[in-house]
This record gives sequence, structure tokens and C-alpha cells, in this order.
Amino acid sequence: MSVRLVAIGGSIGASGRPSRTETALRRSAAAAVAAGAEAEFFVGEQLRLPLYDPSSAVRDLRAQQLLEAVRRADAVLIASPAYHGAVSGLVKNALDYFEDLREDSRPYLEQRVVGCIGVGSGPQGPAAALRSLRDIVHALRGWPTPLGVVVGAAPTDLSGGPDDRTAAQLDAMGTELTDFARIRTAARPLLG
Ligand SMILES: Cc1cc2nc3c(=O)[nH]c(=O)nc-3n(C[C@H](O)[C@H](O)[C@H](O)COP(=O)(O)O)c2cc1C
Repeated sequence: MSVRLVAIGGSIGASGRPSRTETALRRSAAAAVAAGAEAEFFVGEQLRLPLYDPSSAVRDLRAQQLLEAVRRADAVLIASPAYHGAVSGLVKNALDYFEDLREDSRPYLEQRVVGCIGVGSGPQGPAAALRSLRDIVHALRGWPTPLGVVVGAAPTDLSGGPDDRTAAQLDAMGTELTDFARIRTAARPLLG
């Protein structure tokens, strides 16, 4: 039974250097795929969406694609850089679009397991980004995984990529996502 994973996050304007947030997202998603998920990515420029306007019925093609993917998803992975102690505007704006899912049979992120990753250069910012992502997921009725991952700066990230311990956490969370989504799907007949 395949698990459909949607991975959302990263940054724009990294001008040539890889987005550390996207790197972490892809690492965790790869573990989910190794455990049996199919992953669809919405990263970087794909998140350059118009500011979410709740009063408008017109949606950008990219926003439509994001929403359709989330509708189909069994699991979601979200990674944000810390910007001024919180989730970046780019990522938050994408999540604001989930308001369009409110009338769905599974509203917002209901019944979906969600992995969260906060990335930053200071000691506190990435943890704050992780915490606000988890608050947002709760507000959207999603199920954050027990493990959330913080990717900080040196000494946890000397090489530009996550260190071994952080990488192991990203892998564990990816595996957890697939496992929990599979359990939830298998339990569907029992839940009615
Ligand atoms: C506008 C802005 C605000 C930032 N604020 C914080 C912050 O409050 N705490 C922190 O740890 N890092 C902060 N950073 C650093 C970024 O989180 C860090 O560089 C991260 O790696 C960026 O992700 P990226 O590599 O995916 O672009 C900020 C960066 C920018 C551009």
C-alpha cells in the first residue's frame, strides 16, 4: 500500500547556494520514500504564490496544484527557515492556502500525519520555527509526528548539510511519516 507524501518548504533567493531548508526536507522525504511513500515536492520557486486572498475565488495554477496534492495526501512534510524567530512568510503564505480545504470531506489536514522541520542559523530561531509549524499543523487539524527536527548552525551544520545526528533525526521522521500514514490507512475500515 503506497503512501502519498507531499513535501513543502525551502526558500527563494538563495542565489546559487542550495537552500538548507530544502536540503533537510529532501533528506527526510527520501527516508519516507525508502519506507514506501511516493513524494511530490513543492519547493522554492513553486511556493512563489500570490498572497493568499480569502475573498477571491481565483487561484494561481501553482496554488491549485499544491491544494490538489494536499487533498490526495496521506502524509505531509513541512520545512521552514526561521525568519525573525518564526516561520518564513513564503511557507506561511503557502499554508494559508489550506483554508481553501475547509469544506473538504477531510478538511484542512485532518487525518494526515505531518512532519515538521525548522532550519536556522542561530540557537533559538529554528526551534521557534519548529514550534510555530507544529502550532499551525494543530490549527489545521493535522497530526504532527512525535519527532520534530531542528536544523541549527555550527556545530550541528559545519558542512552546509545536516550533521550525522540531525540527519538521523530527519531519516527517522521520514520513516515515521510513512509508517503512521500506513497504519491510518489500514485502520480506515475500522473507523468507518
Ligand atoms: C529575513 C531573515 C531572517 C532570519 N531570521 C533568523 C532568526 O530569527 N533566527 C535564525 O536562527 N536564523 C534566522 N535567519 C537565518 C536563516 O534562518 C538561515 O540562513 C537559514 O539557513 C535559511 O534557510 P535557507 O538556507 O533554506 O535559505 C534569517 C534569515 C533571513 C533572510
